[in-house]
Amino acid sequence: MSMKKIVNIENMYKSFFGVVALDGMNFSMEEGEIRCLVGENGCGKSTLIKIISGFYPFDEGKLEINEKEYKSINPAESIAEGIQVIYQDFSLFDNMTVAENILMYSTVAGKKMFINNTNIKKKAIDTLKRINVSIDPDAYVSTLSVSQKQLIAICRALAQDCKLLVMDEPTTALTTHEVERLLEIVKELKAQGVAVIFVSHKLEEVLEICDSITIMRSGRNVYDGKTTERILSKEEIIYYMTGKQFSDKVYEFKSEGDIPLLQVKNYTLDGAFEDISFQIEKGEILGITGILGCGRSELAEALFGVVPADSGNVLIDGKDIGIIKNIEQAIEHEIAYVPDDRLTKGLHLEQSIADNAVIRVLGEFASRFGTLDKKALSEQKTKSLSTLSVAGLVPDNPVRSLSGGNQQKICLIKWLSTNPHILILNCPTVGVDVGAKSEIHDIIRNLARENGTAVVVISDDVYEIMQLCNRVLIMKQGRIALEKNIADTTMEYLEAALAEEKTT
Ligand SMILES: Nc1ncnc2c1ncn2[C@@H]1O[C@H](COP(=O)(O)OP(=O)(O)OP(=O)(O)O)[C@@H](O)[C@H]1O
Ligand SMILES: [Mg+2]
Repeated sequence: MSMKKIVNIENMYKSFFGVVALDGMNFSMEEGEIRCLVGENGCGKSTLIKIISGFYPFDEGKLEINEKEYKSINPAESIAEGIQVIYQDFSLFDNMTVAENILMYSTVAGKKMFINNTNIKKKAIDTLKRINVSIDPDAYVSTLSVSQKQLIAICRALAQDCKLLVMDEPTTALTTHEVERLLEIVKELKAQGVAVIFVSHKLEEVLEICDSITIMRSGRNVYDGKTTERILSKEEIIYYMTGKQFSDKVYEFKSEGDIPLLQVKNYTLDGAFEDISFQIEKGEILGITGILGCGRSELAEALFGVVPADSGNVLIDGKDIGIIKNIEQAIEHEIAYVPDDRLTKGLHLEQSIADNAVIRVLGEFASRFGTLDKKALSEQKTKSLSTLSVAGLVPDNPVRSLSGGNQQKICLIKWLSTNPHILILNCPTVGVDVGAKSEIHDIIRNLARENGTAVVVISDDVYEIMQLCNRVLIMKQGRIALEKNIADTTMEYLEAALAEEKTT
């Protein structure tokens, strides 16, 4: 039996001012299918979605929706065909209630003159029930958590008679538990006949949820398959995405018996973390993990002086400097910190890629008279940008023109250029594809190995910690619950330790 095709794309091309985003892409979706779309940063996933939703026109190729060919399609036509996209910012109205948000478009589309509030509320409750969620329909959206907002965005899509729901990286801002709930909801939608395109860089969740998978590389599909016919391993997916194979080697660190570069003693910040003590030697990569809210980010920020600790001591190279009181003091001791909210706070989006990459070291190129040594600066730009490969990179283009993942790479480059003694990275690879992740890991490892940088990596990805670090701390409720050498532990053990309520 052949199922009806909701979307069928053949040989599609799309460029942005000379940058090729789609280069002969083929893609199709059947009714009630969950298809995962994966590929490295900048390979064209979001572009494909924006073409399907009528947001971008395409240059060449065939686009069929519900078996009808479109030479061009606008957002209203795409919605009328039952296609709904949930973008990362959800596009909800904070100052309206849950019920109003869920029903707003279906009310407007219906061109009703009068809005019946009781009716809206009843319909909103029905829609919330469809995905087994209990959120007060009268609550204002501003009071909801990120994951609740996402559920409201899903409900709003369902209220508009959605046949195909597209989610572009829906799990980036969710905790493990919330991800599980979202995956359950996606399965429930499938049971109700809704097809789902699911874009994600987290291959574990991709493999758990998909019926079929499309792997993209450089603007075209390089693998298409149903998981009922063949289950791909993570390594195979990575291979298709990048054309390369990655090894699973543990980072080896040999202590030279030096005084630890960084010692933290009884560090405490009321309400965030308590009595944290650890040390890290030159060239070590220490992972810190724990569920959201365990105090890991607060600890990182305290070590960089963003929000200083209340009590405790920090020793750098054996010298006791008390508490790190502010960012200036942290930078003076050559500590660098890459925050987890790089996308919103880390970059000057309108400035060029090259300027962003060197912004932290700009001062080194200024003369006493305040003039810039342009030649040396331009060499530094080339050097900084050569540390990572960024698809379609034009150094003079604004950072804004890069895909989300590539923007993150530029932010990392910016800090790596400062050659810090102590580098604290808060979730350095969230939203970054596996190829780029592996490149970022290589750079961090080289920095530790060659420069002797002491690196602290905060991550909720145990697999990442296993690959990158030589030692790990697990934090729970503001305290260190477990410390292990990576060589002496397994991923299963760490995951179980994380899941336990309390570790003894
Ligand atoms: N509006 C635009 N203007 C210029 N270039 C663009 C625009 N949108 C996308 N591109 C370019 O097209 C290519 C594909 O980008 P796209 O956003 O589709 O990638 P992606 O697969 O979604 O990546 P990510 O995983 O990082 O989100 C990239 O090289 C990107 O820089
Ligand atoms: Mg994208």
